[in-house]
Amino acid sequence: MCGIFGLIQRSGDVAPTILEGLSRLEYRGYDSTGVATIDNGILKIRKDAGKIKDVADRLHIAEMKGSIGIGHTRWATHGAPNMINAHPHTDQHGKIAVIHNGVIENFLELKQELLDKGHNFVSKTDTEVIPHLIEEEMKGEVGLAEATLRSLRRIKGSYAVCVLSSLEPNKIVCARLESPLVLGVSDGATYCASDAPAIRPYTNKVVYLRNGELATIDVNGYKIVKVADGSVVERAPEEITWSIEMAEKQDFPHYMLKEIYEQPISLRNSLRLQEKYMDLLTAFLDRGKEVFLVSAGTSQHSCIAGSYIFSQIARLTTYPVVSSEFVERYGSTVGIDSIILAVSQSGETYDTLKAVDHSRMRAATVLGLTNTVGSTLTRVSRAYLIQQSGPEIGVAATKTFTAQVLVLAQLALRLAKLRGKLSQDELDEYGANLHKIPDLVETVLETTHERVKEIAAREKDSRLFLFLGRGISSATAMEGRLKLLEITYVPSLAYPAGESKHGPISIIEKDTSCVFVCPRGETHAEIIGSIMEMKARGARIISICEEEDTSIIGLSDEVIEMPKSIPELLSPVPYIVPLQLLAYELAILKKLDPDKPRNLAKSVTVP
Ligand code: G6P
Repeated sequence: MCGIFGLIQRSGDVAPTILEGLSRLEYRGYDSTGVATIDNGILKIRKDAGKIKDVADRLHIAEMKGSIGIGHTRWATHGAPNMINAHPHTDQHGKIAVIHNGVIENFLELKQELLDKGHNFVSKTDTEVIPHLIEEEMKGEVGLAEATLRSLRRIKGSYAVCVLSSLEPNKIVCARLESPLVLGVSDGATYCASDAPAIRPYTNKVVYLRNGELATIDVNGYKIVKVADGSVVERAPEEITWSIEMAEKQDFPHYMLKEIYEQPISLRNSLRLQEKYMDLLTAFLDRGKEVFLVSAGTSQHSCIAGSYIFSQIARLTTYPVVSSEFVERYGSTVGIDSIILAVSQSGETYDTLKAVDHSRMRAATVLGLTNTVGSTLTRVSRAYLIQQSGPEIGVAATKTFTAQVLVLAQLALRLAKLRGKLSQDELDEYGANLHKIPDLVETVLETTHERVKEIAAREKDSRLFLFLGRGISSATAMEGRLKLLEITYVPSLAYPAGESKHGPISIIEKDTSCVFVCPRGETHAEIIGSIMEMKARGARIISICEEEDTSIIGLSDEVIEMPKSIPELLSPVPYIVPLQLLAYELAILKKLDPDKPRNLAKSVTVP
């Protein structure tokens, strides 16, 4: 997975803007950086392994000349992160430069064909075949756009590509299939990038390219055609309504912390869903013979929490399934009566889209929940909801979890109403509780952060964490553990507390850190038993429980006290907050950058 940024403007050098754009895309990968511009009719490239700032300083990229250029931040899929494999890649004569995000499945075949024709390759990447294919096509006297179109028709796999050539120095040709690409238009400049926040500082007018579309951009705008048949697509720009401040760090040291603190606002937005679409999704959910909640990472944990809410409030059985397992596990039985609710912040996760494609082929109904308007998921879903949490830059998802759980809880409430499963009083009470959640999260941020910092300081050297919860809190425990794992790299396990005696208890030694998520509710008595089991074996008990919950407080070494009267079924939203903060504070104490976890990327758009 990689980040792409291209720009053509009437005058002035584009390199500084490209670097700015790339830094906003760094969350998509950051093992290598490269920029190409056209300087006096000559294609110039500077690239190397390393983070954008380091490479840009070392190679003086900001000083590159030219009013047209493309830039790339890489997350390796084929070929190690080094200078040769960094993008842009060129044809044999250094006249065509290509940057690419995606995977070309048939690149070995294509490479062999080109080798047989006498081409030399320098890198180990799949991308390098693209400029060579375009070079071959241009021998037939066709222009850059047509040659790119013909080359892309031969590619199997996924791509977002940008092509720049000194042979036609006044345009950038870009296209997408499965990997995201957005155009931006302003007076005298046209942009293309992997996502809209990268373009937002320069314009609020964007055009989302769809799968299998190619755009040629120049200073006056853009022209879109379909890769398959070259037919012209008319599409007017859309206006972005969120501001760039929403996507920048403001006064927070890291995006992750900023996004944790943004949750009261993002949750208020997540309560403002459009009735029409809520009703549509509810009607589909009601009709299905079986309902699968398909997702990956944090989104899967939202789905696990959602499955408890659906069953308890709306009496709907749902099956949360990780996307990468879906096709093998249920692919041969899913059919016309099945509902697939795909949940994905980005709407671009490869495995989730693969599960969706498979289900569509088998005539199942696909519904979507995503944060990204215009994403692939929104286009392939029969109906979809936007979680409305605004751009999330931190690789470790935070506001995504809370927003998704809140949206799923609203859907469950609507379904309960439709099915007549709750009395009017119960419906009203549940609805009122949902609306209290953003304020509760605000209170939790105010009252627990200092406490979490103290606990983090004492837990700094802990070499193993176990996260336990019962019922819906097992989803909170899993998500808390994922945060810790993602940004601190401390080995950790998460289990439904009742299951812990079937294995995890064997790793408990004196001072093993055991985090218990214990809201008041049906599981309260049982979680006390689980705490005692761990305590008896010497574990250090860190509990998140309601204030004045003396039975839990008396058993714990450390306590994070939460406001009273949070219904257990909605507890994952406020109760995850201290766990997000704990992971963040531990990362800081360990001098790790929480916004750039190693080996991870915000959006996994490759198999
Ligand atoms: C990656 C990210 C996670 C995210 C997961 C699913 O692994 O690092 O933070 O939860 O993808 O992403 P999605 O966009 O489908 O929710």
